[in-house]
Amino acid sequence: MSNIGKSQANTLLFNEVKKTIGSKMAYAAIEGNILTAAKGEQKKTFLLTSSVSGEGKTFTTLVMTQSLASSSNAKVLLIEGNVHKPQLAQAFELNRKGMGMYEYFSAECEPKDAIVETGHQNIFLMPLSDNNKPNIDRCFHRDLFEKQLNKLKESDFDYILLDGSAVIGFSDTLAVAKFFDSVILVIECEKTKWEVVQLASEKLSMVKAEKLGTILNKRSYPIPKKFYS
Ligand SMILES: Nc1ncnc2c1ncn2[C@@H]1O[C@H](COP(=O)(O)OP(=O)(O)OP(=O)(O)O)[C@@H](O)[C@H]1O
Ligand SMILES: [Mg+2]
Repeated sequence: MSNIGKSQANTLLFNEVKKTIGSKMAYAAIEGNILTAAKGEQKKTFLLTSSVSGEGKTFTTLVMTQSLASSSNAKVLLIEGNVHKPQLAQAFELNRKGMGMYEYFSAECEPKDAIVETGHQNIFLMPLSDNNKPNIDRCFHRDLFEKQLNKLKESDFDYILLDGSAVIGFSDTLAVAKFFDSVILVIECEKTKWEVVQLASEKLSMVKAEKLGTILNKRSYPIPKKFYS
């Protein structure tokens, strides 16, 4: 994805992301590559991660969501999976109190208790929750996580996207990566070193994650884009 302009003062807002992507190439690239691959193989659950923090996972998750919900008219569930730096509720300017991802993945509530409407057509969100002492190990406990994710898969969402944390430095994403139909590794171009990407990729392979592909984010095009395809 090319670098398509800064969103508001370090706050990632879905409306801003939507406005910024407009009809830009970045949007088409995601639709054309990742989503076509996904549709062809009937993939439903996606985990977005990166080697290190700040490479653009949340930004990419929002672009993908917008693409799926609008052009494919699909019903999309977004799950906040970054317990270290949650961004999604803020991206949708939601300030909800109540249950969320912590409770759902700890099997303490039903999906309907943990999912909220975002105010955008076809887009639903499972935020963390206002629990300030969550049992994170329980949320990311392998067997329970798989069971709870499968329950969501059987619901009427067409796609389920989890915005995860980075794989280097955190263990939660790696603990559950293999339960997703597809794992997408977001790479910040011209910044993240290839050795770091290779290490992240090896870590994902070791936990038997199903890698669908990589997204090269914040890419600049020193020569005209048409020569890159
Ligand atoms: N393609 C892009 N064009 C312009 N700005 C971008 C792009 N991708 C990401 N950014 C900006 O870079 C910053 C980091 O992006 P983002 O928050 O999505 O990263 P992240 O991987 O989710 O970070 P974290 O690991 O902390 O959750 C944000 O300010 C975001 O607006
Ligand atoms: Mg993020």
